[in-house]
Amino acid sequence: MNSTPRFGRALPELPASALYTSPSLGRLWKKVHRSCSPFLKRPAVRRLYQSPAAVLRKKLSFSYSLIALGCADGAKESQLLKKLPPPTFLIAADTNLTLARRAVRHLPARKRTCREIDLSQPLPAFHLPPSTSRIFTLFGVLPNLEPLPLLRRISGIMKRGDLLLFSANLAPGKSALAGARKVLKQYDNPPTRRWLEAAIRRYRPKLPRGRLDFSVQPDPRQHSLARIEARWITGQRTWIVFSSRRPTVAQVETWISKAGLSKAARFLDPRGEEALWLVRSAKT
Ligand SMILES: C[S@@+](CC[C@H](N)C(=O)[O-])C[C@H]1O[C@@H](n2cnc3c(N)ncnc32)[C@H](O)[C@@H]1O
Repeated sequence: MNSTPRFGRALPELPASALYTSPSLGRLWKKVHRSCSPFLKRPAVRRLYQSPAAVLRKKLSFSYSLIALGCADGAKESQLLKKLPPPTFLIAADTNLTLARRAVRHLPARKRTCREIDLSQPLPAFHLPPSTSRIFTLFGVLPNLEPLPLLRRISGIMKRGDLLLFSANLAPGKSALAGARKVLKQYDNPPTRRWLEAAIRRYRPKLPRGRLDFSVQPDPRQHSLARIEARWITGQRTWIVFSSRRPTVAQVETWISKAGLSKAARFLDPRGEEALWLVRSAKT
């Protein structure tokens, strides 16, 4: 269970990994992804994941390694790699090893491996032959974990020349809270409820009987940041079961510089609901 927020409200919160760790939860998440994900529903979002390839081709050396963080089955990395030469080394790293193994099976690379990782903890160094440049990807994870601490952990293991390509789900429009309300239906739907209710049943210590409620809330640690939350409401208490942060472009760019990273390029979905950032370490 996660720690207490900085601003007053202190609802207990399930760790994001509790929604993904078992093979059966991975399968239920995949069903949600198939029926609701803008990546599968909208060609413009799929094209978004190929857009960085032109910039990357100029920056990467002949031999490069791809470290795919929180990659699930690697569908988004696969889209990117269609437009890049295959990496020499690939590491697929996720809390769900069944999904990461699937990524390793279908992503092209000369040498491939997968590993179980907890992105909410200090990260391993990912030692690879020094002659290769490294690109980290982080797709679809920033919404579920504390964004700034996560970017700081990744920045901490990045060396000069390494690149990080990450996605963020944005709150479209000018107001973060109103923008997040526009996309609430992508979350409050039967497949997402089935997935989250299965995670609640598996969670230990056991949660009492209750009901799921979806809403848009200010992030407890950064009030101007909108979060879509699924809360488990019981007679006595309320738990936050799932949260998805919907920042504005400006908020993401503030996290980038606070994490000691510098922006190399940004790629925005035409509807303003999703974007990718290519960043490098600001260390000299
Ligand atoms: C919303 S899914 C995104 C998957 C995929 N990258 C995509 O964009 O379709 C979040 C991914 O992060 C992984 N994940 C969640 N919490 C994690 C943690 N603490 N450490 C490592 N991986 C985690 C999940 O297993 C899942 O694969």
